[in-house]
Amino acid sequence: MIIILKIFKWIGLFLLLFVVVLAAVVFVKKDRTFDAPYPQIHAVQDSLVIQRGKALVYGAAHCAYCHAPVEMVDAIEQGEIVPLSGGHIFDIPPAKIITPNITSDKETGIGSWPDSVLARSLRHMVGYDGRALLEFMPFQNLSDSDLTAIISYLRTVDPVKNEVPRSEWKLLGNILKAFVITPVGPSEEIQVVVKPDSSIEYGKYLAQSVANCRGCHTDRDMKTGKYVGPFYAGGFKMPCETNPELILVSPNITTDPTTGRLANWTEQEFIQRFRKGKIIKESMMPWGQFLNLSDLELKAIYRYLQSIPPVTNNTGPVLISAK
Ligand code: HEC
Ligand code: HEC
Repeated sequence: MIIILKIFKWIGLFLLLFVVVLAAVVFVKKDRTFDAPYPQIHAVQDSLVIQRGKALVYGAAHCAYCHAPVEMVDAIEQGEIVPLSGGHIFDIPPAKIITPNITSDKETGIGSWPDSVLARSLRHMVGYDGRALLEFMPFQNLSDSDLTAIISYLRTVDPVKNEVPRSEWKLLGNILKAFVITPVGPSEEIQVVVKPDSSIEYGKYLAQSVANCRGCHTDRDMKTGKYVGPFYAGGFKMPCETNPELILVSPNITTDPTTGRLANWTEQEFIQRFRKGKIIKESMMPWGQFLNLSDLELKAIYRYLQSIPPVTNNTGPVLISAK
């Protein structure tokens, strides 16, 4: 009997020691930093470039959906030119992430960051302070000219002073930061220019690297952001921002005849759907920003989605109960 008790005591002590060591390692490693090259991107003052940047920021790249104050929800849903002063909250299992102010304010925004730092954040997902950015933004493969356009436009916007609170990391998040989350850089060779036209190529570029259609319409692991389902076959479950009791499930947007949302849509119907904006009020698809997509961009996206292999995947209703 006494021997058994002694063994339990030792096991207990051992477990306690293990937990203490683990906690210490997590504490030290959660703030680990990463290196990535600084892209040679320099803001310019050419008005056509700035115009292109603005069209991306408030359109396909939908920066405004995530970086504008949530109180401006009506204007955001109309795709208006709202200030990018931050504060949008994403409450996900690892953390409560709060988006930063990306106006040109020197103290609370990005006004004092060099172009190369901004470019590295967007291309290599290594933040200004060296931390790995979570995979919210899909811009790693943006062409040099589009990255230049976006940064050139950001340099022209008025500064807005808005001190955004820091993101709050939960225990799970700190463990993931210490051991799992690493920055995801470009997956292909960066092009100098991707020409805007109605080609499948341009549609692919928009759907994957700018508008994030793939990021939301592919099943992903909510903890790590990794893709776990076939591209564009839907099924990604997102906690609904406006109603915590609900979960949003992204539909399958392949042309699969039985389960694909786009099975019978003509190009015209596709464009018309985007012109209507948000219909399901709980939806987190950035319909407002996509009101600013041009016919050319929508055509390209449509043609690309028509060109990819259909996948049979019934994603069920768009809204389900969180319980
Ligand atoms: C889907 C939401 C979303 C979109 C769209 C988005 N962002 Fe972000 N952005 C975030 C989040 C979330 C963070 C914070 C990430 C983190 O701390 O891990 C962030 C961080 C940043 C940062 C700070 C990076 C750093 O070094 O700390 C910059 C700069 C930025 N975004 C610029 C942009 C620009 C420019 C666009 C449009 C071209 C854009 N974002 C579009 C969600 C978004
Ligand atoms: C932030 C996540 C997100 C992004 C980014 C996103 N979607 Fe969606 N999408 C959703 C969700 C959630 C729904 C279901 C709710 C709804 O219909 O609004 C949806 C619905 C749709 C529908 C069905 C609409 C209907 O009325 O039947 C289509 C088509 C679609 N998305 C295409 C796209 C395309 C193309 C892109 C890129 C240009 C895109 N989505 C980007 C989340 C997203």
